[in-house]
Amino acid sequence: MTLFLIQSITLLLLFFLAQSLNPSVPLLLRSTNIVCVTDFGAIGDGIHYDTLAIQSAIDSCPTTTACRVVFPPGTYLTATIHLKSKVILDITEGATLLGGARIEDYPRESNRWYVVLAEDSSDVGITGGGVVDGQGLKFVEKFSEVKNVMVSWNRTGACFGDECRPRLVGFIRCSNVRVWNIILRQPAYWCLHIVRCKHTSIHDVSIYGDFNTPNNDGIDIEDSNHTVITRCHIDTGDDAICPKTSTGPVCNLTVTNCWIRTKSSAIKLGSASLFDFKDLVFDNITILNSHRGLGFQIRDGGNVNNVTFSNINITTRYYDPSWWGRAEPIYVTSCPRDSSSKLSSISNLLFMNITAESENGVFLSGCKGGVLSNLRFINVDLAYRRYTNYAGGLVDYRPGCRGLVNHSAAGIIMEHIDGIEFDNVKMRWSDDNNTSQNQNWDNPLDFRPSTVNNISVLNFYSALYRQ
Ligand SMILES: *[C@@H]1O[C@H](CO)[C@@H](O)[C@H](O)[C@H]1NC(C)=O
Ligand SMILES: *[C@@H]1O[C@H](CO)[C@@H](O)[C@H](O)[C@H]1NC(C)=O
Ligand SMILES: *[C@@H]1O[C@H](CO)[C@@H](O)[C@H](O)[C@H]1NC(C)=O
Ligand SMILES: *[C@@H]1O[C@H](CO)[C@@H](O)[C@H](O)[C@H]1NC(C)=O
Ligand SMILES: *[C@@H]1O[C@H](CO)[C@@H](O)[C@H](O)[C@H]1NC(C)=O
Ligand SMILES: *[C@@H]1O[C@H](CO)[C@@H](O)[C@H](O)[C@H]1NC(C)=O
Ligand SMILES: *[C@@H]1O[C@H](CO)[C@@H](O)[C@H](O)[C@H]1NC(C)=O
Ligand SMILES: *[C@@H]1O[C@H](CO)[C@@H](O)[C@H](O)[C@H]1NC(C)=O
Ligand SMILES: *[C@@H]1O[C@H](CO)[C@@H](O)[C@H](O)[C@H]1NC(C)=O
Ligand SMILES: *[C@@H]1O[C@H](CO)[C@@H](O)[C@H](O)[C@H]1NC(C)=O
Ligand SMILES: *[C@@H]1O[C@H](CO)[C@@H](O)[C@H](O)[C@H]1NC(C)=O
Repeated sequence: MTLFLIQSITLLLLFFLAQSLNPSVPLLLRSTNIVCVTDFGAIGDGIHYDTLAIQSAIDSCPTTTACRVVFPPGTYLTATIHLKSKVILDITEGATLLGGARIEDYPRESNRWYVVLAEDSSDVGITGGGVVDGQGLKFVEKFSEVKNVMVSWNRTGACFGDECRPRLVGFIRCSNVRVWNIILRQPAYWCLHIVRCKHTSIHDVSIYGDFNTPNNDGIDIEDSNHTVITRCHIDTGDDAICPKTSTGPVCNLTVTNCWIRTKSSAIKLGSASLFDFKDLVFDNITILNSHRGLGFQIRDGGNVNNVTFSNINITTRYYDPSWWGRAEPIYVTSCPRDSSSKLSSISNLLFMNITAESENGVFLSGCKGGVLSNLRFINVDLAYRRYTNYAGGLVDYRPGCRGLVNHSAAGIIMEHIDGIEFDNVKMRWSDDNNTSQNQNWDNPLDFRPSTVNNISVLNFYSALYRQ
């Protein structure tokens, strides 16, 4: 008893020390209970389902104190496991939590299809240095270098077509969520989904989706407040960091120090945009060979206000047009998805210290009655060069709106804007004479005063450059 007390005190002291060294370590790290899934019968051979053992370990955690559920090295095949308050999954290095690939491995309701799911919980999270793997490739019906054809688990009509697949990790209506030091791999659909949560911290997470699998999103922040994402590495087929609003706003989201490659948008707001997006910061991010850099697909009546992008390096290129994106480094659009959608506005955007090398220009497009207002571009360096064989000359209003429309490319296309400022914007055009793809792309600024009001251009520079 005395020994136990001393150990506890030492542990506590250590945790308090860690706390004082790193003030960002939240309370939930002060865990005193540790349970191991193998003590509950988990085998970890990757063949037998360990669902019951894992769930029993989680359920053995007391409800009043923090608890770590440890996975020693091994491969743990499982159906959906349900986290609860104060539980941290500790998937250690060498351990893999492997999601089942059968429909009976998941709950009845398709909106609860996750390998790991926490609902209505607080102080809950995942860490440990190991892997959560969704076996996404088992959901491919037909492999394709353009876009894989995926199975559909539509049984009830509650989800549509090939979007009926399980996500990897979900937190729904939770608070104090922490996901850190973990590898999330091969989701069958979206990877990490935060829904109606508050106070979420996601850091030091690596996400590896499949480059040819549709809907392989990285992190989807839906209807959630007070979210911090930092030091994440995301390499995947679909949108990498994607705030969206379906039943409530997204407020106070900060994303810093991340690396992203995707065949769609690296950062994308929308397209689900029924509620507002407010006070978002994106800083110190590297975006490589993506189909679109910083994107807004606002379609459903929600308004966007106060978003800052700073210190971001972007390279974008064309991929097959069946993937959303047209190689735009920056893409800001608001238009009603269809005739029943409400108008949205986008205001107070700052783009500062941005460099881009891209195969297409910047596209800024509001719509009648839904203008973009107060956009500022400061210290922006844009280098333009074509090198893939995909056809240019299309502007992209997808999803919905006017779809893909023929329109010759330009350095910056603007329409339906009230208040836009460029200060120290450099535009450099490649001087390689392989003009087959370059033709019709030498117009720096494309706008008409009838839809673009109050434009200010300071220190604007445009010139050819040689590789
Ligand atoms: C989904 O399943 C429902 C019910 O079985 C069916 O009526 C509907 O046609 C299916 N839809 C798609 C897109 O597969
Ligand atoms: C986020 O904050 C907004 C505005 O305060 C509030 O309406 C909304 O309910 C909050 N959402 C959550 C999930 O707490
Ligand atoms: C924004 O979210 C962070 C992280 O949860 C939190 O520390 C901060 O207080 C929030 N800011 C506001 C204004 O609510
Ligand atoms: C920017 O992020 C990278 C990681 O992607 C990190 O190494 C670097 O220190 C960050 N820079 C600043 C100024 O925070
Ligand atoms: C814009 O958002 C940032 C980051 O959340 C916040 O610090 C700032 O106060 C907001 N600005 C306004 C005018 O609301
Ligand atoms: C962007 O590129 C500049 C110049 O090469 C470099 O100094 C900076 O660290 C890069 N920042 C990011 C976020 O990649
Ligand atoms: C942009 O870069 C300048 C010069 O390097 C720096 O002073 C400024 O703080 C940066 N802005 C942001 C928002 O990081
Ligand atoms: C767009 O341009 C292509 C090629 O020039 C042409 O075949 C197509 O008919 C045009 N589409 C529209 C809607 O004008
Ligand atoms: C023009 O737009 C800027 C922001 O881009 C704003 O500060 C200014 O008030 C606007 N001026 C007028 C006359 O609307
Ligand atoms: C492209 O053509 C121009 C004018 O004909 C010439 O000065 C330049 O050297 C050529 N550039 C390359 C990379 O060949
Ligand atoms: C010129 O463009 C074509 C495609 O139109 C491409 O196949 C070829 O590799 C390019 N050549 C050079 C030297 O960039």
